[in-house]
Amino acid sequence: MRLVILGPPGAGKGTQAASIVDTFNVVHISTGDIFRENIKNATELGQKAKSYMDRGELVPDELVNEIVVDRLHKPDLDNGFLLDGFPRTVNQAVALDAALEQMGTKLDRVINIVVASDLLIDRAVGRRVCPKCGRTYHIVNQKPKVEGKCDADGETLIQRDDDTEETVKKRIEVYEKQTSPLIDYYKAQGLLLDIDGSQAIDDVFEQIRRGLEEEA
Ligand code: AP5
Ligand code: MG
Repeated sequence: MRLVILGPPGAGKGTQAASIVDTFNVVHISTGDIFRENIKNATELGQKAKSYMDRGELVPDELVNEIVVDRLHKPDLDNGFLLDGFPRTVNQAVALDAALEQMGTKLDRVINIVVASDLLIDRAVGRRVCPKCGRTYHIVNQKPKVEGKCDADGETLIQRDDDTEETVKKRIEVYEKQTSPLIDYYKAQGLLLDIDGSQAIDDVFEQIRRGLEEEA
């Protein structure tokens, strides 16, 4: 299956991606994770992306499109992929369609996680992540077994640099302006699967699982 997961900052894209890749055996491709990995490794791409990310703005399309198109040509995607955080502009969506068409394929479904803005700030500001394995937690909604430590490897959890209240508000604004037009873009293609993301994590996944299995 070739999937996109769409939704505002803090909607639960990464959280649901973890269950989707396990259940449907697809590869998770998160542009945010790719940028954070590049920042950690102090690459040129990381340096360029960081200034945009810290301000809560989008990294320019020309930087992002090339990375994703390259990634789609890697040989590990035979069973499909789940794009998380890409596309984020209509320009990116058009570039994705063109790249897939050139490869003789197309998207199967776009999962659209819908969550009211007041929940998003709490979710993003309360998020904690493992710097080693990337697992995501929340100080109230998804606590680790031992406070402040990753369940998988015991690493001390950290907060993302862009998870301050001010930056999250900016990211939500950017989503409304630049990314939400993709909802109509994919609706017009008959690909959209609307999911109520305000429910508990497991219940959100249940909706996604049912929606995707209906397709199979
Ligand atoms: P990116 O990393 O993609 O961030 P984002 O889209 O802002 O989304 P988040 O990762 O913040 O949220 P999420 O939906 O994954 O939520 P999560 O599952 O973690 O992008 C970061 C930046 O990179 C961008 O701002 C931009 O600068 C740049 N960038 C990336 N891609 C780009 C592109 N294509 N073009 C241009 N720039 C790009 O959940 C959040 C929290 O809520 C967690 O703590 C979780 O435990 C909790 N939670 C999740 N689900 C639930 C639930 N159902 N109930 C209660 N709590 C929940
Ligand atoms: Mg994420």
